[in-house]
Amino acid sequence: MKILLIGSGGREHALAWRLKQNPAVELFSAPGSSALAKLGQIRPAAIGDVAALTAVAEDLRPDLTVIGPELPLSLGLADALRSKGLAVFGPSAAAAEIECSKIFAKDFMVRHNLPTASYAVFYDHQEARQYLKHSSYPAVVKADGLAGGKGVIICGQHRQALAAIDALAPIPAAERLIIEEYLAGDEISFFALADGRTAIPFGSAQDHKAVHDYDRGPNTGGMGACSPSPLVTPALEKTIMDEIIRPAIEGLAIEGRPYCGLLYAGLVRTLNGLKILEFNARFGDPETQAVLPRFKGDLAEVMMAAAQGRLEQVSPTWDPRPAVCVVMSAEGYPGPSRQGDAIAGLEQAAARPDVEIFEAGVTREVRQGAEIPVTSGGRVLAVSALGDNMPDAVQKAYEAVSLISFEGAHYRRDIAAKAAKQAMR
Ligand code: AMP
Ligand code: GLY
Repeated sequence: MKILLIGSGGREHALAWRLKQNPAVELFSAPGSSALAKLGQIRPAAIGDVAALTAVAEDLRPDLTVIGPELPLSLGLADALRSKGLAVFGPSAAAAEIECSKIFAKDFMVRHNLPTASYAVFYDHQEARQYLKHSSYPAVVKADGLAGGKGVIICGQHRQALAAIDALAPIPAAERLIIEEYLAGDEISFFALADGRTAIPFGSAQDHKAVHDYDRGPNTGGMGACSPSPLVTPALEKTIMDEIIRPAIEGLAIEGRPYCGLLYAGLVRTLNGLKILEFNARFGDPETQAVLPRFKGDLAEVMMAAAQGRLEQVSPTWDPRPAVCVVMSAEGYPGPSRQGDAIAGLEQAAARPDVEIFEAGVTREVRQGAEIPVTSGGRVLAVSALGDNMPDAVQKAYEAVSLISFEGAHYRRDIAAKAAKQAMR
């Protein structure tokens, strides 16, 4: 089976690693990375260039194209490929609006009675400023469009909220704004597969968004995760499927935007019950690096079933052991970060039992006659480990992390610490 994987990050490395466990899979990636080049051929094409990515797919005629990141989804890559008769895992631009326009997503949730924070929409920043005078605090100011993780600002007071509007003003995605009620509680990342009509659960995780231990410092794309989420009992999974995921998939189908791919619900368990923070039209990063080590089936077959509208035939099986992934980032992340530092210890770490390394910002360079891995992005890599229980997974992940070094390396020391403590009770 020929598969084209679109993307280049740690999430795509994890997807490629799992896809390749089916020996019949011949993998291609665009634009790919040095890690993906070890798992198959890579083809150059910018991630935001739908015409170039479509040309790669037309040339290869893969049996399936899997789209990793939201940008090409928002630009209609899935539509372009389907119009060429290709099978695609990933939603159309219309269905991906559930992530790519927060205004669409919030209005959609209201239309379909899905539980979410109360909010107001602004097409004019001046009106948003007026509204903030009478808003309750904390309040959350959000850009409507995709902002690469920089579009959400939590504001404790009126003054901060005004500053948030100023900070968002230069971002094109912030032409329209949402001001939202702050939801306090533990977050859950919940994954479901959908084929347009049918949806099935596909794992849960707890992300760790803040850059420093104890959730201090600015939010990042995610500094580590554990799977399953310690909050998601079988009963809660059923509630999430019945009250959130299936109504969302049905609602999208009714509105003429059938959803095919991975639907990620970002949830908060509040004192008033479960609320939806957001939907994403793709796998989470780094949650995928913690979820996929637990998946025991054939990912290629499952994704093909989703692309072909026959998910009802699929029932994924999972390793009962939990997994933990710890992100190692470069100095400066989530701001502009150091690059070009040699990375030592990758092979030793990867050789540890139950450990996988997923590379995100890593490239290979020839230095002094030898090819070596060097840092090339903010989030450099994720170290994932399966354990007999959460404390064991934490220990295995951190033992492997301790073998890897590069100048300016940063990682949180408390990934899954809360979940491990709960597991010991
Ligand atoms: P979003 O892109 O909407 O998921 O926001 C990114 C992150 O900001 C979320 O994962 C939360 O940690 C935080 N966040 C967003 N909206 C809210 C909210 N209404 N209340 C509390 N935290 C929020
Ligand atoms: N880790 C959060 C996300 O992928 O959106």
